[in-house]
Amino acid sequence: MSAIQLDTHVEARASRSEARIVPAQPMLPSALARAADYPELRYMGSKHRLLSWIYSILKDIPFETASDPFLGSGCVAYLLKAMGKQVSGSDFLNFPTVLAAATLRNNQERLSNLDVEQILGPAPNAAQFIEKTFDGVFYTPSDRRFLDRVSANIAQIKNPDQRALAMAALIRSCLKKQPRGVFTVSGDLSHYDDGRRDLALSFEEHFVEQVQEFNRVVFDNGKTHSIQRASVFDTNPRNVDLVYLDPPYVPRADDNCYVKRYHFLEGLSCYWAGYKIMAETKVKKIEKIHSPFGSRKTAINAFDRMFSLYAGSVIVLSYSSNGYPDLSVLEDLLSRYKREIKIHKRDHRYHFGTHAAVGRSQVEEYLIVGR
Ligand SMILES: C[S@@+](CC[C@H](N)C(=O)[O-])C[C@H]1O[C@@H](n2cnc3c(N)ncnc32)[C@H](O)[C@@H]1O
Repeated sequence: MSAIQLDTHVEARASRSEARIVPAQPMLPSALARAADYPELRYMGSKHRLLSWIYSILKDIPFETASDPFLGSGCVAYLLKAMGKQVSGSDFLNFPTVLAAATLRNNQERLSNLDVEQILGPAPNAAQFIEKTFDGVFYTPSDRRFLDRVSANIAQIKNPDQRALAMAALIRSCLKKQPRGVFTVSGDLSHYDDGRRDLALSFEEHFVEQVQEFNRVVFDNGKTHSIQRASVFDTNPRNVDLVYLDPPYVPRADDNCYVKRYHFLEGLSCYWAGYKIMAETKVKKIEKIHSPFGSRKTAINAFDRMFSLYAGSVIVLSYSSNGYPDLSVLEDLLSRYKREIKIHKRDHRYHFGTHAAVGRSQVEEYLIVGR
């Protein structure tokens, strides 16, 4: 992300008399400049590239407290923090809550060079779970030993926000080292290696870089934020002024299963504690976690229950034209709880992790505001 643009600037020239006024550049509001700096993750449905559009709509709504119960990569919750709000975030997967613990809840903790040295140092008692379980599936043997060692050292970090920061750096390193950023493909992936930097860098180099990326975005907006691992239906809105809802939408084809694509990151984020590997699967997946937003049979009812749960808050819903149900159905549902509904639209191209979806990735993106 570039630094904040100045309104006008004078281009340096050999002599003062030659100085030339360059046309005014639009100045990025500081909240947006900060949010745009959030480390972008290759995550299905990430709104990172839509942050400035989302900001342009949110900025005109009066609110002080906000919830994001579908954290995902965490970038929208971070935008809300950058806008000075008090934010509660949740997701039914663990690793999005780790990312948000590092960037949203964490108001001040960073990792020093010495911390990084310790994390990268020896861990004689480290388990060999990753090395053995994912043999022939993901990464090289020495990469997997690195992940076992660094995971063991991260688990020793006492401060929870620093621990989350280190894990966030490891999660993003894993995404960068995995071709296409999804864990549905395994074995010999050399045909994906087009010489790009992300695949060329070692895990250690990635990790050091990612610690810097996450250190950079730590800031305090003067509010206390909370993170929870929970289904949206188990969250308690507690009179939150505004809720930003970004549930998975049932695609017209394919599926929207986050566990299938990101099971490795989910396992890594807690070193597979509480998870059982499905040994018979090619990529050593964990079991799918049911979400009512995953199928046509249950999606409409799920939207209805969710709107009812947050009926007391301003509802801001992200949706897209390639989802099921249709926009008109959602509008009808929302109108049961909200008197005024405004739909904002814009074109968008998603960068999904599956080839099958690439052709369908050009969509009309909606932001539906119900008050
Ligand atoms: C479209 S993504 C959110 C993307 C996020 N706004 C971003 O910009 O990165 C949807 C998220 O909902 C989560 N999810 C799916 N079903 C859920 C449920 N029933 N309750 C809570 N979270 C759920 C998934 O784990 C996923 O992280």
